Formats: sequence, structure tokens, C-alpha cells
Amino acid sequence: MDNLINDINILDGSEAEACETVKVSKKTNTGKDRKLYIESYGCQMNFSDSEIVSSIMSENGFDTTSDYEDADVIFLNTCSIREKAEQTVRMRLSQFNGVKRKKPELMIGVLGCMAERLKTKLLDEEKIVDLVVGPDAYRDLPNLVGEVDEGQKAVNTFLSREETYADITPVRLNSNGVTAFISIMRGCDNMCSFCVVPFTRGRERSRDPYSIVKEAQDLFDKGYREVTLLGQNVDSYKWSPEVNNKARLEKSEVSEIVNFANLIEMVAQIHPDLRVRFSTSHPKDITDEVLHTMKKYENICKCIHLPVQSGNTRVLELMNRTYTRDWYINRVDAIRSILGEDCGITSDMITGFCTETEEEHKDTLTLMDYVKYDFSYMFFYSERPGTLAEKKYEDDIPLEVKKRRLSEVIAKQKETSFERNKRDIGKVHKVLIEGRSKKSAEQLQGRNTANKVVIFDNEGQQKGQYVNVLVEDCSAGTLFGKITERKNDL
Ligand code: SAH
Ligand code: SF4
Ligand code: F3S
Repeated sequence: MDNLINDINILDGSEAEACETVKVSKKTNTGKDRKLYIESYGCQMNFSDSEIVSSIMSENGFDTTSDYEDADVIFLNTCSIREKAEQTVRMRLSQFNGVKRKKPELMIGVLGCMAERLKTKLLDEEKIVDLVVGPDAYRDLPNLVGEVDEGQKAVNTFLSREETYADITPVRLNSNGVTAFISIMRGCDNMCSFCVVPFTRGRERSRDPYSIVKEAQDLFDKGYREVTLLGQNVDSYKWSPEVNNKARLEKSEVSEIVNFANLIEMVAQIHPDLRVRFSTSHPKDITDEVLHTMKKYENICKCIHLPVQSGNTRVLELMNRTYTRDWYINRVDAIRSILGEDCGITSDMITGFCTETEEEHKDTLTLMDYVKYDFSYMFFYSERPGTLAEKKYEDDIPLEVKKRRLSEVIAKQKETSFERNKRDIGKVHKVLIEGRSKKSAEQLQGRNTANKVVIFDNEGQQKGQYVNVLVEDCSAGTLFGKITERKNDL
């Protein structure tokens, strides 16, 4: 499964940086002349972008390979979210140095957020890099590759106000054939003070809903049974024909304003057997209308990724998150009252943000007790150049304090995940089968609506099928059960 939210169920100290997980392109062989190896770091949007890049490259004479030694071109699609993410890429580049020495004609490109952040500086700092391309410039890749073929270095880090790659059909790179991601918007207009994304991804823009529905329909027709709609802040999705059409070559077939609640309804109506998920919801923007739409459609999964970052109002203010602890609690209460206690709620947390006191850190722990998150991504604060926090506040919490607070948050989450999973025992869950269990060939694995991994014995079922599973046991990260005739309770 390639969904990062799901890849790691409980994070310990080292895995807390798990958002920097790497995904590598698979082999496609359609007889094209040259081979592209693409390695992706960071968030799901970056993985989704790599599929757009592969599509553009495939149209221009490249098959993908899973072996970098076999490649004519290596792309690293990079992440800048924390310092460690950038260090990982730099280490990888130095490994490729050896390969390039043996094969000087090998082309190496840095794509994505690190390319955008560092621009031409990357060419000075990393001599083996030939190509630097930001997230909005992928349509220019064929030209840029051409320039490198002619012996030049090539850079395009232009950030667009319009680009959504709406018309490009992604090449599914690490696909299980059942679940897929669809980018519905790009960029971010929220200036969270710790965050580099508004600088690396540019202004927020929404993609034509018609192209989103079409992509989801095509996936369903190919046998996919779950789509995850992606954006940095999906609740602010908004398509308005007057505004959006002006900027585009092709007129959209959609003539009304479409908000996020409307969009998930449109995708849910494709087929009751197509599950719809989405990520990420912003606490300031998630509306009751979205929650009611989720309730109305059984196939819109009951799981909301609602990153809180901190449980303390003063710290939230410094983070420029534009909500308070009380506001956040009100949104959680709305989820519980409209969608019920079983709706999954997951989060992101940052420990040791500038000036955070011990008491304020404890507010994060008590908030976790209140919400009972099913799962969280947890990080210690990493100062990023150019962000508001870097300019305005001192990064004054010592590393060992940040890490100790992180370990407390992780321990709390582990406890809560286990508690939440124990509630699922004895209930029947509707599970979409994603394939064999990683540990045993005789077992299958899938997910319930709350996005929890469920493992059960294979009784001849296939991936892509729905089954009812009676959950009998659990760990903090996984549910275990058996297939049953009983109708699902969840
Ligand atoms: N758009 C999403 C987050 C995208 S970045 C949202 O608003 O929730 C994913 C997560 O990385 C963030 O939620 C935050 O928890 C973490 N993060 C971002 N910048 C960070 C930094 N400078 N240091 C540590 N963690 C950071
Ligand atoms: Fe970063 Fe905030 Fe935008 Fe999320 S909402 S991408 S944390 S600026
Ligand atoms: Fe990283 Fe860029 Fe995503 S900074 S988290 S790859 S938007």
C-alpha cells in the first residue's frame, strides 16, 4: 500500500520522520528508447506528482525502471518539510555520484520542493545535478531534458497560479490496482509559521471538478475501488467557472461553483463500490456540510485527518494556525456528533515549537486524551529557512527537550491507538481487500472505513473485493479477524 498515512501505524522516535519515506518507480517496458528511474520523498502529493512526471516523460520517449543502474535519467522528487528530509536527499545524491563517475552520460535531476526552495543554488552545491525543476514546471521537462542532452544545465522553478496538470493522466507507479491518489488542488495559502510548503508549492489553486470525476471514473473502470483526494487543505477546495475558466485553455464542463462538500458528493456518486477518502482537512475550514455529506454516502470513508499541531492556544497562535484549542475541540465534537464515535480521527503534532513551555506541551497531551486519535504523525520542530517562524522567533527549545516531548507524545498515541483498536473487537467491519498480508501468504489485508489495516485468513477472495470481517484481536497498529456472513456493524 502506498498511502503514507497508512504505511506506518505507530511511529517511534526514528520513524517519526516517516514522511520522508522513499518510493521508487517500477519497471514499465513499452519499448521506449530511454529509461527513467524516479525516487520520491515527502508527502502523498509528491508521490502523486511523480506519476504526472512519469506520464510526461513516457509521452517523450521514456519507460520507467526500478533499477537506477539501468537508467539514462535519474530524478529525485524531493521534500523540504524538515531538515532531515533534505539531508536524506543530499546523501542519496552523493551515492549517485559513484554511478555517474562510471557512466558520465547519466542525467541527474532534482525535482519537487527542494528544487523550488534552493533553485540554481542546488547546481552550485551539488555538482552532479544537471536539472532542477520545481513542482509547477513539469510540463517543461521534455525541453529541459533536451537542453541537458545538448550539454547545458537546465533549471525551471517558475511557480504558477494556474497549473493543476488537470489534463494529464498519471502513470500509476507503485499501484496495487485497488487504491489510488488524485490531486484535487495544488499549493497552499495558509501561512503556518513553521511551514515551508507555501514557498515551495506556491499559491493555492483548485483543479477542474470535471477532470477529477473523470479521473476517478477511469480508475473505477480499470478496477480501482478507492480514491484518495489530495490537497494541503482540501476544505478550501473551490471551483468557480468564471474565475477558473479564464485561466485555462479548455472550458470546463462544470458551470456552477463547486465546493469541497459538492466535490466529494460528485465523486461518491460515481459508484457505491468506489470508496472516497481525502487528506488533509484543516481545522479552521472543515464544515458541517462536509460532515453531513460524509454521513449521507456510505462509500465516503469515515476517517478524517485533522492535524492539530499543538493543543495549546498560545502556541497555535505563534504557529499561525488561526484556530484555538476550543475551536479545535468544537470541530472534534461536531465530527463525533454527526458521524459517531467510530469515525477515525488522525493528526499531526509538532513538539518543541519556539518558546513552548512544559505546561503548553502538556496541553497537547491532554488534548490527545480528549480526542482519542486513532493515529498520528508526530515530529519535533525543525526550523526551516525563509519561514515566518525562522524570521520572527528563536528556535529556543533544546534538541533533547524537543525529542523527550516527542517521545511522550508518541507514547500517548501508542496507548490511544491500542485503546481505539480494542473498541473494534467483536464488531464486523466492511473491508476492501488490497492484497496479501505482508507477513503471510495465506492471509489477506485490507482496510476498514476508518482506514485501519485488517488482516484475516484468505478464503479464496481477491484484491479489490469487499468482505465482512469479524475483528477478534488487535495490536496498536492492526486489527485481526475472520471473514463472516454477518452484516457489517461499521
Ligand atoms: N497541510 C497539512 C500539512 C502538510 S506538512 C496541514 O496543514 O496539516 C505535514 C506535517 O509536517 C505538518 O502537519 C506538520 O505536523 C509537519 N511539519 C511541517 N513543517 C514542520 C517543521 N518545520 N518541523 C516539524 N514538522 C513540520
Ligand atoms: Fe503548511 Fe499550514 Fe499549508 Fe499545511 S496548511 S501546508 S502546515 S502552511
Ligand atoms: Fe514535503 Fe513538499 Fe510535500 S515539502 S511534505 S514534498 S509539499
